Amino acid sequence: MQKTRLAVLLSLTLAGSSLVGSLAWAQEPAAAPVPKGDAARGAVLSDTCMGCHGIASYRNAYPSFRVPKLGGQHPEYIVIALQGYKNLTRPHKTMHAQAISLSDQDMLDIATFFASEGDLQKAASLKGTPPEKAGTCVACHGEGGISVAANWPSLAGQHKDYLEHALNEYKGGLRKDPIMGSQAINLKPEEMRELAAYFSSQSGLFSVHYAIGGRATAAAGK
Ligand code: HEC
Ligand code: HEC
Repeated sequence: MQKTRLAVLLSLTLAGSSLVGSLAWAQEPAAAPVPKGDAARGAVLSDTCMGCHGIASYRNAYPSFRVPKLGGQHPEYIVIALQGYKNLTRPHKTMHAQAISLSDQDMLDIATFFASEGDLQKAASLKGTPPEKAGTCVACHGEGGISVAANWPSLAGQHKDYLEHALNEYKGGLRKDPIMGSQAINLKPEEMRELAAYFSSQSGLFSVHYAIGGRATAAAGK
């Protein structure tokens, strides 16, 4: 009894502190705060996403860069990114149109579905020599871009041109994120290219090749 009341109190206090936290608490007040969505529901909701994210070489038309890989990415970060497109702290028109109709629960289910498709594809060792500037990045994004915290994206294996595009958007203030804004502001174009090349060349993220009507190979190539 006591325990339940405490849990309810706690969940009320924590509600709103963060989206993921509040959802997790709302569902299982006494359990560990790991976000749990419905992967099967997420798979259905993700059908439309696959037209772009399910095709490894699919490109954004203008500016031209490859659509980011979502396989192996932290589910918490996927939710944060979708909220960003919905709230326009990220400026992409198509992703705004996609995210605007998604509820918090939809986002959680979608992120859980992507996470259920497989873990990061880690290699035994890292490739190449990290550029000088990578020293600060790995504090959050992890060695070789395999992030250690759920709210920081993994960069390992992400498309090079997408990483460069994202860095440019933080630098220019188009993506509004206080942390990454201050990280990117002093990077020169050639430093961004080097960082993007280094992190993208590592093993890690992959394109999810879920096909409408059935689950295809979870960990299919890049
Ligand atoms: C028409 C193609 C298209 C469709 C459909 C689409 N996306 Fe995207 N998505 C993109 C592009 C392009 C970007 C990169 C946008 C940018 O520049 O920030 C992106 C970015 C993202 C990101 C951010 C990834 C990261 O590493 O930060 C997430 C998460 C995402 N999409 C999820 C979804 C989900 C979920 C759906 C379906 C509900 C979806 N997308 C549908 C093209 C698409
Ligand atoms: C203090 C922690 C921190 C440091 C240090 C940091 N980042 Fe980030 N990074 C973040 C967070 C948080 C986000 C997600 C921001 C958002 O929601 O858009 C992010 C996002 C990114 C993205 C976008 C990824 C995607 O999938 O869209 C890139 C690229 C990136 N960081 C590269 C770098 C590089 C390169 C450095 C070093 C120069 C760096 N970051 C340093 C925390 C950090």
